[in-house]
Amino acid sequence: MKVVIPVAGAGTRLRPHTLTTPKPLLPVAGKPIIDHIIESIISLKFSELILVTGPDNGEIFHHVKLTWQSKFNVSRAIQEEKLGLGHAIFQARNLFSEGEDIFIILGDTIIEGQFDDFVSEKKDFLGVKKVDDPSNYGIVELDKDGKIVSLEEKPQHPRSNLAIVGVYYISDATKLFEAIQYIIANDIKTKNEYQITDALRKMVESGWIFYTKEISNWYDCGRVSEILKTNRFLLQKNGSTVDSSVKVENSVIIDPVFIDKGVSIKNSIVGPYVHISEGVRLTNVMVKNSIVLENATVEESQFDMSIVGKHAKVRTASMKLNIGDYSELDMGR
Ligand code: G1P
Repeated sequence: MKVVIPVAGAGTRLRPHTLTTPKPLLPVAGKPIIDHIIESIISLKFSELILVTGPDNGEIFHHVKLTWQSKFNVSRAIQEEKLGLGHAIFQARNLFSEGEDIFIILGDTIIEGQFDDFVSEKKDFLGVKKVDDPSNYGIVELDKDGKIVSLEEKPQHPRSNLAIVGVYYISDATKLFEAIQYIIANDIKTKNEYQITDALRKMVESGWIFYTKEISNWYDCGRVSEILKTNRFLLQKNGSTVDSSVKVENSVIIDPVFIDKGVSIKNSIVGPYVHISEGVRLTNVMVKNSIVLENATVEESQFDMSIVGKHAKVRTASMKLNIGDYSELDMGR
């Protein structure tokens, strides 16, 4: 089996951070999103992980290769044009042998779930979760035996509230690639993109059987508020990590937090639910529920539910911040 993770998306909802760092490399609770994703599927037996990237973002590929190549092969397929998720996955077709199985997990889908049994039994399934706002997702409808009878991408009038979370297992990748090829050749688009949901519907219509697996914990990383919520959940679950090189002077750390190498904290209250990357300096700061990225400097400030970019300089702020890399903010008090 090979795993495919499409990571070519622009991450527009996470700007300004995704202007300088691809979304899967943004850290939450101590490590990049992509590493949380890979950890969640590491128990599956797979030989190769294929990242589908845009033409430019080699950065993700290099990070994953460096971090994970001792465990499995890492390769890359390139999506030249952003024509949709189905189209992205189609770019990996030449890396599969006839009839090989495929596990797909989306590049912003941190989940907790157990699906090893489905994979070892070669039982095709989609990860799903009941949601309150089904028109924002791909939706599945089931028959009384739990088999999928229809799928629809972000329908205006959803027929169920069972959302596709972005985890797919198909025991024969060739069949999936044929279905995607069909929707591309016939220009079948939803929201102007070639969707994997439309290809899967085509497979269901030709009699392919898919089951669903309810994913209990699904941590979204699509928007700033969601990424901060995810940071909070994961820190709560994993507990605190403070690197031994961190300098803390006249300050209080409230667990759980993640504080990386070379951070200096002076006259501050840090936590709970704070991720602080390498080299950050905090002086006279109160911070909770936030992510502060590499080498940012924050002084005389108080903030909550915020992301501060790499190398940013913040002084005398008392507000919710969403500050990009290398930005400066001085409220001049
Ligand atoms: C994609 C899928 C959609 C799924 C969603 C889960 O949509 O197309 O079916 O429900 O991921 O996050 P996107 O979030 O890329 O718009």
